[in-house]
Amino acid sequence: MQISLDQQVALVTGASSGIGAATAIALAAAGASVVLNYNSQAAPAEQLAARINAEGGRAIAIGADVAQVEALFAQAIEAFGFLDILVANSGLQKDGPAASLSLDDWNRVIGVNLTGQFLCARAALNIFRRQGVRAGVSKAAGKIIHMSSVHQLIPWAGHVNYAASKGGVDMLMRTLAQEVSQQRIRINGIAPGAIRTAINRTATEGAAEQELLKLIPYGRVGDPEDVANAALWLASDASDYVVGSTLFIDGGMSLYPEFRGNG
Ligand code: BGC
Repeated sequence: MQISLDQQVALVTGASSGIGAATAIALAAAGASVVLNYNSQAAPAEQLAARINAEGGRAIAIGADVAQVEALFAQAIEAFGFLDILVANSGLQKDGPAASLSLDDWNRVIGVNLTGQFLCARAALNIFRRQGVRAGVSKAAGKIIHMSSVHQLIPWAGHVNYAASKGGVDMLMRTLAQEVSQQRIRINGIAPGAIRTAINRTATEGAAEQELLKLIPYGRVGDPEDVANAALWLASDASDYVVGSTLFIDGGMSLYPEFRGNG
């Protein structure tokens, strides 16, 4: 299977590190021009853009937070003229027991993880509708990939804001897919499990890693590239008949391995 995103333009939010950065690299390597969005981490995003350009790809880094989504998409169109792929990836955690979780920590996580993905999808949908199918470029008028989590399915004590945001992302993704598929816009999700990123360092090293591995039947922590490869496939015509689905990229975490020999 040959995957080419030649002539396509992709926007990846939260692209300065981890899953977002790996996804941007994979899309660029397949020929897409990539807009790397970051919120606070300008330097790594700029460096990644420079690296992609030096390797013969095309990339720019644009800073924007949830309140600047419309400007972000306007700048993307100004830079590359089109938009074919959105990877709505930005997300954060602010953990704590529900009984003492502050309203600020609730709102911030819902604001970035759920409202942010909605605002990005809305901006992308308007562009995709204007563009229509670009013959010879892609079979779809546009593709959106919502980055969710295994916690759209698995409840997670001590992370009620995060789990609620990801449950919301699942319904956001499927409702949008139901609403716009007739316009040949494809919307899908990815639910990563435990992935070795900077944010997860403490959970994925040493004794904590051994505990974590009890939850992963496949016996290893995931790498950002495991998720990036799935995003690349969902962004390409190779998955043209995949609409409103979530790919669990989790080494089997969502199979509830605690139930082996129990229950
Ligand atoms: C979280 C990680 C966690 C994983 C599995 C992800 O959504 O961001 O921190 O390790 O789910 O629990």
